[in-house]
Amino acid sequence: MKPSFSPSSLPRKPPISPYLITLLAFIFFVAFLYGEDFMCLFGQQLQLYSSSYSTSFSTPERIKPQKLPFAIGKTEEGCDVFSGSWVKDESRPLYEESECPYIQPQLTCQEHGRPDKDYQHRRWQPHGCDLPEFNASLMLETLRGKRMMFVGDSLNRGQYVSLVCLLHRLIPEDAKSMETFDSLTVFTAKEYNATIEFYWAPFLLESNSDNAVIHRVNDRIVRKGSINKHGKHWKGVDILVFNTYLWWMTGIDMKILLGSFDDEEKEIVELSTEDAYRMAMKSMLRWVKLNMDPNKTRVFFASMSPSHGKSIEWGGKEGGNCYNQTSPIDDPTYWDPESRKSIMGIIGEVFKKSKVPITLLNITELSGYRKDAHTSIYKKQWSPLTAEQLANPVSYADCVHWCLPGLQDTWNELLFAKLFYP
Ligand SMILES: *[C@@H]1O[C@H](CO)[C@@H](O)[C@H](O)[C@H]1NC(C)=O
Ligand SMILES: *[C@@H]1O[C@H](CO)[C@@H](O)[C@H](O)[C@H]1NC(C)=O
Ligand SMILES: *[C@@H]1O[C@H](CO)[C@@H](O)[C@H](O)[C@H]1NC(C)=O
Ligand SMILES: *[C@@H]1O[C@H](CO)[C@@H](O)[C@H](O)[C@H]1NC(C)=O
Ligand SMILES: *[C@@H]1O[C@H](CO)[C@@H](O)[C@H](O)[C@H]1NC(C)=O
Repeated sequence: MKPSFSPSSLPRKPPISPYLITLLAFIFFVAFLYGEDFMCLFGQQLQLYSSSYSTSFSTPERIKPQKLPFAIGKTEEGCDVFSGSWVKDESRPLYEESECPYIQPQLTCQEHGRPDKDYQHRRWQPHGCDLPEFNASLMLETLRGKRMMFVGDSLNRGQYVSLVCLLHRLIPEDAKSMETFDSLTVFTAKEYNATIEFYWAPFLLESNSDNAVIHRVNDRIVRKGSINKHGKHWKGVDILVFNTYLWWMTGIDMKILLGSFDDEEKEIVELSTEDAYRMAMKSMLRWVKLNMDPNKTRVFFASMSPSHGKSIEWGGKEGGNCYNQTSPIDDPTYWDPESRKSIMGIIGEVFKKSKVPITLLNITELSGYRKDAHTSIYKKQWSPLTAEQLANPVSYADCVHWCLPGLQDTWNELLFAKLFYP
């Protein structure tokens, strides 16, 4: 059954009529019946109906456009691209490590001696449909005269670099550059007048970990209501991709600053990780609502990037971690315990309640299978390793970050799918 109305069939300046109220009631009734699928299709129109209902009906202009900005098609109805499995694919990776000069040495696994390459030859296959093929020239043409920005922590930086690697081959050597100014890294495609940027803000809000280089602070403090501190640098961006997660996982309550970092006597309250994270999510959505034009821009949020620090979590032997792992977890019911269902719950809950058009990149579960895709010991080390460490590689394996090329290219394929085929 298909609803036989569309927003454009409404009168231009509708009065509050019983007809409209009946119509609204009907929309909500159908939405209720068809649950999530219906919400995906009509969620935005519904949200705008409900918000204009609570203010006034004299602004029908606020009704959403039929088509999201940048969309050129649609993903097959009912297909959740985040639900699927990993398949071997020898046509991967989409670029070679040695061919992309922008990968930071913390992620160049082959250069640092990784002996296996299977982690590069995997493709994400959604259960219900195929992902559209990543089209670098379409992406670059779309970015002409525009700014795209990733905002968040080092995991988001990895996705940023992956995207630059996926695109840079199409740009001649003398027509591209990458520069860093404090928290901001800017890749410029000169002939396209396009930039792809990364902004370091691991909590999104102001914190004492905001220095882009020196940010290893044990006693982390986040300032409440401070998103504009960083947000002023995101204004005017056309496509935004946020993430934040890892830095909240301190294992203890979060310290939240109420005043300013300059106050001599700081007023600090402690919040549970969940409450603190929820506060940040709400700040992000409020910022998006006030600063992004839903007719012209798109905003994405990447869910938690899982880590693989304890092999017992996937039935491995005690004391192990991602070190020496060369294949994904093949249990389709595996859910990485570390990535905390509670945080996913908060993301789901906050997004559901929100009227702000922001697209979730739900990369948590699909990445959870990829115990083989971390940088492990095959990366530039921050400091020289001791003999004791060298004798026991498990002790210094990085099971948080991901090799490039690798898993994060898939995150960008999903971003591509959600941008052009929402
Ligand atoms: C969005 O586009 C519609 C027409 O599609 C227009 O009426 C409305 O004013 C626009 N909203 C904003 C915030 O620019
Ligand atoms: C990629 O996008 C360009 C438009 O920028 C289009 O001309 C081309 O046909 C696309 N390639 C594929 C394989 O779809
Ligand atoms: C280049 O892009 C910026 C937006 O990023 C825009 O403001 C500017 O007008 C563009 N310049 C040209 C020459 O197209
Ligand atoms: C790494 O894996 C190989 C083969 O799976 C195994 O023989 C070796 O003992 C493992 N090494 C460690 C340190 O776990
Ligand atoms: C993310 O995707 C997984 C796997 O499809 C699903 O179980 C989970 O509910 C999703 N989370 C949200 C917030 O949509």
